Amino acid sequence: MKKMFSSVYLLLLLLLVLRSAAAAAAPAPAPNVGFGYKLVSLEQCTNGGGLIGYLQVKHSTSTYGPDVPRLRLFVKHESHDRLRVHITDADEPRWEVPYDLLPREAPPPLRLKPSTAPFTAYEYAGDELLFAFTADPFSFAVKRKTTGRTLFDSSAGALVFKDQYLEVSTRLPADAALYGLGENTQPAGIRLRPGDPYTLYTTDISAINLNTDLYGAHPMYMDLRKEGGRGAEAHAVLLLNSNAMDVFYRGSSLTYKVIGGVLDFYFFAGPTPLAIVDQYTALVGRPAPMPYWALGFHQCRWGYQNLSVVEGVVEGYKKAQIPLDVIWNDDDHMDAAKDFTLDPVNYPRPKLLNFLNKIHSAGMKYIVLIDPGIAINSTYGVFQRGMAKDVFIKYKGKPYLAQVWPGPVYFPDFLNPAGVAWWIDEISRFRDLVPVDGLWIDMNEASNFCSGECHIPTNHSCPIPGSTTPWVCCLDCKNITNTKWDDPPYKINASGATAPLGFKTIATGATHYKGILEYNAHSLYGFSQTIATHQALQGLQGKRPFILTRSTFVGSGAYAAHWTGDNKGTWEDLRYSISTMLNFGLFGMPMVGSDICGFYPAPTEELCNRWIELGAFYPFSRDHANFASPRQELYQWQTVAESARNALGLRYKLLPYLYTLNYEAHTTGAPMARPLFFSFPDFTASYGLSTQFLLGRSVLVSPVLEQGATSVDAVFPPGSWYNLFDTTKAVVSQADRYTTTLPAGLSEVNVHVYEGTILPMQRGGMVSKEARSTPFTLVVTFPLNATARDAKGAVYVDDDERPEMRLVEGQATYVTFYASVRGRTARVWSEVKEGTFSLQQALVIEKVSVVGLQGSAQGLSVEVEGRPSASASGAWFGEVRPLHQEEESSSVRTSM
Ligand code: GLC
Repeated sequence: MKKMFSSVYLLLLLLLVLRSAAAAAAPAPAPNVGFGYKLVSLEQCTNGGGLIGYLQVKHSTSTYGPDVPRLRLFVKHESHDRLRVHITDADEPRWEVPYDLLPREAPPPLRLKPSTAPFTAYEYAGDELLFAFTADPFSFAVKRKTTGRTLFDSSAGALVFKDQYLEVSTRLPADAALYGLGENTQPAGIRLRPGDPYTLYTTDISAINLNTDLYGAHPMYMDLRKEGGRGAEAHAVLLLNSNAMDVFYRGSSLTYKVIGGVLDFYFFAGPTPLAIVDQYTALVGRPAPMPYWALGFHQCRWGYQNLSVVEGVVEGYKKAQIPLDVIWNDDDHMDAAKDFTLDPVNYPRPKLLNFLNKIHSAGMKYIVLIDPGIAINSTYGVFQRGMAKDVFIKYKGKPYLAQVWPGPVYFPDFLNPAGVAWWIDEISRFRDLVPVDGLWIDMNEASNFCSGECHIPTNHSCPIPGSTTPWVCCLDCKNITNTKWDDPPYKINASGATAPLGFKTIATGATHYKGILEYNAHSLYGFSQTIATHQALQGLQGKRPFILTRSTFVGSGAYAAHWTGDNKGTWEDLRYSISTMLNFGLFGMPMVGSDICGFYPAPTEELCNRWIELGAFYPFSRDHANFASPRQELYQWQTVAESARNALGLRYKLLPYLYTLNYEAHTTGAPMARPLFFSFPDFTASYGLSTQFLLGRSVLVSPVLEQGATSVDAVFPPGSWYNLFDTTKAVVSQADRYTTTLPAGLSEVNVHVYEGTILPMQRGGMVSKEARSTPFTLVVTFPLNATARDAKGAVYVDDDERPEMRLVEGQATYVTFYASVRGRTARVWSEVKEGTFSLQQALVIEKVSVVGLQGSAQGLSVEVEGRPSASASGAWFGEVRPLHQEEESSSVRTSM
């Protein structure tokens, strides 16, 4: 290990600034749907390859179609903490999430002759998870080896397996606390509420609709259980299936009702929430590394009519001294809403290139929107080339006709390699036209303003010129109701049971590459587009791509960021944004945020104040609005500008911490924004808490979420917490007194850091590039009233250009900092985990600011990297300044 503070790498002059601180509605499983299956054979695969069994249906039923007579069961311990249970038709191949889209081990091929090996009910003991079963009727259970507890028990209901209907249930104990199953706006908060419907089917129904299917589909939940005096234990369950499904959670049981595919369950042993996301993302893909600038603030709006307006926005931020890294265009830059084009009048290319030169040299970035719908227009090159390459989704042998912003469109098929190649080429051509720094892929559920089978009317006038509601369908359409895909026997609760599956999306009978049915692949549309877009940007820029996608599926986090879609400028939506953000952390998609101040309608000034105070701490922090709302850039109101300077000012000082969290997310799946139970799993008061959250392990954000409030009742897990805006203010919380009322004036947001932390901060700035080159302060927090004091923290630095984010000699550095006080000696030291990365500017630590020593600072001797630090002693008693004030440059410099 190299010492960061050693004379080899560092010249350290240390200033230690010491602080004296103070259900019910959900239907039960229908008993007559199926009578279950009986296990007729079972054998162990060779070389520890798992178990293979065959199941025979017990009594056939016809509800929701005939039963599949024979099933093939495959069980495998894929790793120490992951167990897979895969059940499919034993005789006919069925649709499953493609193995090239979501890389994983394929189960053995179907075998027509079952073995006659004898079997009895027994436990298949792998590592931490045990698989147990009963043969007749067949049910299986997954148990935790170390405690013997049952985590999943399918004897709660009959196993049903029909062509278009699968059903399986599990029993749940009273102490189960479930999280996940999205995307879904959950008014009850992050913890799943018995009786609420969880319908998974990617749908463009605005985020203001509660408890309904939404843009993404993530059939994954985590169960955090705390029984009596035992430590909390978490496990998770993924049902990897892309077909539409309802999940009914009743408190004592949970039932999946799925309209196709196979049962492909993955069980993750945990036992901590952090272990869960690690195990989960090891399977579905580690969260994508984000470029440094993506952690800065973003401004967007639908309705920046011309380039001068955009220039004015950048200027507005500059004048108001509010940090801004990225300026966005919605579809306003496009020529008639056509992807990869520029409006020659309002966004003339030479002017745009000039503007981009200017902002790029200031370190700022530019991102634009693209939609998947390609305008049907014989003079439009993107369309022509797509037709020539035959890349569009088909219906009855012809490209499927739909309508989105540009009017009539066809949808590219991203499951088709030719479609992917064409898309990559189009992005490459567009990048030659406009050097964008990232792409925003929207409307990819896919959203369609029409439904069914459509024709362009003879007196066609699409899009309706000048209409403010261009999303009214102007095609001539007829609903398709007469196929088994459009009218499946079991109807999911789509759009709150008001809509058929093909409503305002691609017809379910449409076909993708090699005849793949939209019925099966629907929820993979946005995901497949995300992968293709990622491939395009990665290859093109040779840099770390930034993509924002609306529609997501299991694994999307490995490629892109997500925002929570079209929300409302209301206090309710401000609150809901926290739950959705935290859920996406569980789904392995940590770079997430909501439209700050709301997409529509106009927010009040007070709401916008509170929203930026919360949104400044979303991992993805962007103000975005609908064209019909008045302008809501943060400088539009004096008070909002002040709140923004304050909250974003702190964010920009915390950027090295956020970037380190980004690295940790990428390597371990750990969400950047986390529920409190990630750090305090035994603190049950935090289990449903959805009004506060942690950034990383120990920074707690407690925003105001109520109109008119000037204080906030915040929950603090036991220990010492220091206000990051003014570390003289501390909260010492106890297990039996954990709620504290904190003042929260209009421009004040409460952000605290927990004891035992070393937080890397910089001076901030107006753009991340500038903030990044300022010297560091390490904020060391010791517990108050303790005799032994320890603290730890880390920072990851790299050059932010390379697609990968890895600790490779000469490219990146991960430094762990330690501090402790024992008796009359304080020690500070560090370890450099991997090869040093030489930043152009030295990594300079100008100050170590220690809080929590109280009176005991007097007479302490200080050792830095094992050597007495003479320069520190005088400063131990230096006056303590609130961290939000600009620090004077001091004598403390650490360089590497
Ligand atoms: C969708 C997006 C929204 C965007 C609009 C116009 O509604 O969710 O963010 O502004 O389309 O492109």
